[in-house]
Amino acid sequence: MPIKKICCIGAGYVGGPTCSVIALKCPNIMVTVVDKSKERIAQWNSDKLPIYEPGLDDVVKKCKGVNLFFSVDIEKGIREADLIFISVNTPTKTFGNGKGRAADLKYVEGAARMIADIADEDKIVVEKSTVPVRAAESIMNILRANHKPGVSYQILSNPEFLSEGTAIDNLLNADRVLIGGEDTKEGLAAVEELCWVYEHWIPRKNILTTNTWSSELSKLAANAFLAQRISSINSLSAVCEATGADVSEVARAVGRDSRIGPKFLQASVGFGGSCFQKDILNLVYICECLNLPEVAAYWQQVIDINEYQKSRFSAKVIGSLFNTVTDKKIALLGFAFKKDTGDTRESPAIHVAKTLLDEGAKLHIYDPKVESAQIIEDLTYAIDDYHVKKSVSLYNDAYSATAGTHAIVVCTEWDEFITLDYKNIYNAMMKPAYVFDGRNILDHDKLMKIGFEVHSIGKQMQRCGVKRTWGSMNQM
Ligand code: NAD
Ligand code: UDX
Repeated sequence: MPIKKICCIGAGYVGGPTCSVIALKCPNIMVTVVDKSKERIAQWNSDKLPIYEPGLDDVVKKCKGVNLFFSVDIEKGIREADLIFISVNTPTKTFGNGKGRAADLKYVEGAARMIADIADEDKIVVEKSTVPVRAAESIMNILRANHKPGVSYQILSNPEFLSEGTAIDNLLNADRVLIGGEDTKEGLAAVEELCWVYEHWIPRKNILTTNTWSSELSKLAANAFLAQRISSINSLSAVCEATGADVSEVARAVGRDSRIGPKFLQASVGFGGSCFQKDILNLVYICECLNLPEVAAYWQQVIDINEYQKSRFSAKVIGSLFNTVTDKKIALLGFAFKKDTGDTRESPAIHVAKTLLDEGAKLHIYDPKVESAQIIEDLTYAIDDYHVKKSVSLYNDAYSATAGTHAIVVCTEWDEFITLDYKNIYNAMMKPAYVFDGRNILDHDKLMKIGFEVHSIGKQMQRCGVKRTWGSMNQM
């Protein structure tokens, strides 16, 4: 029986875009995205979607009300669907056993229990959320222990690989779709049903099928590998700063090896986002539980280097500003964890802002897409209400944010920061005027010619327009 109705539990960064693209590419399937948050569903049903993602508005406009629906009627969504995606959040646990490392599966379990309570026909249940290896077994246990008479379930793992900011393109042109299922007649049939959905637009050769546990582990592994590359290049950025090597040149040379490849070698203030840290911590926890301490320690280093990089960058800002930023005005350009998203989860900007606020700085913050309320919420959580009220001002553009400041700190690689009129900005700043480019996106030579003192990641410190060489550094 081909799938006619899909329900997705969780209308977040994954559930919303993924189901919008499924609806776009499968006009014969009715797709309903449900969420327990009335506010989030109301936003999906309004003209201002709850998340900023290039291309998403167009896709939603084409399908909403046709074969794509957003609803808080979870019961109806589950009852009517042939196939149900569980796309709820799986944050790091903040309490109890595994605190700070294990994934909190309470939302996944909640979704599984709702399905068991409501479903009165057979369902294919698909784990879309990122989960620990063998989580599908727990879902299956809950469903099979609570099922209504005559109702049976197949559980599939179908992790999502989209990146925020490029989600629509990633979904339309996925490198691969991964589907894991049970090696039984019913399991393989369920895998085929989900393959059929994706085959509406993804070539069959790009749809990989595996056993359930391989699929679950592959998702954690992919994120761990990607983050590992960033931590590797970031660790070398420290070597570059100490020696006079240039991290961009090193990345270019290393990435030219076709076995290594050029992507994900951009040195930065550190990686952020809701996935990398959470998923690696989860992997580390799993390894510890499996009594594999050496493997756990290996992956933990990816996180440790990221923390080191964020602290190193913040310390560089303070050190360069004569070791004191107390009462200095500092413009923070960018608050999102990467460009083309309004998401701030685990954004390195929060770490940098907190460190500077702790040292008494006054922050002028501008981000093109992050809502002001989100910035205030993040900083209030990271530091406290008093500091935020006293020392944080938010701006609607980079020019007003930088006027009268001692330094600019670029935390997000937004394209618009590259083309700002830095001559005008320089004229309106305190002198000496500093730029700390935490993303290596600016034209440093041009900035130095204007008169800025420029600091970047993995390139030697450049003072008053003069590039200090390793030799001259040694003589200082
Ligand atoms: P999110 O927080 O944006 O959205 C999750 C949604 O689930 C929320 O709106 C929440 O209200 C809803 N929810 C939770 N429990 C519910 C329940 N019982 N019933 C109905 N709604 C419920 O999370 P996200 O970023 O979309 O991530 C979802 C999952 O996908 C996570 O496991 C994450 O690791 C994974 N993932 C995320 C990304 C990403 O880029 N954000 C990429 C790949 C995978
Ligand atoms: C990541 C994975 O890429 C995606 O496959 C998975 O589904 C979810 O997690 P996301 O976190 O949305 O996606 O964005 P990503 O592009 O991976 O960037 C993560 C962080 O790494 C950002 O802070 C980004 O700025 C940083 N980054 C990325 C670097 O610092 N250097 C790079 O070379 C690449």
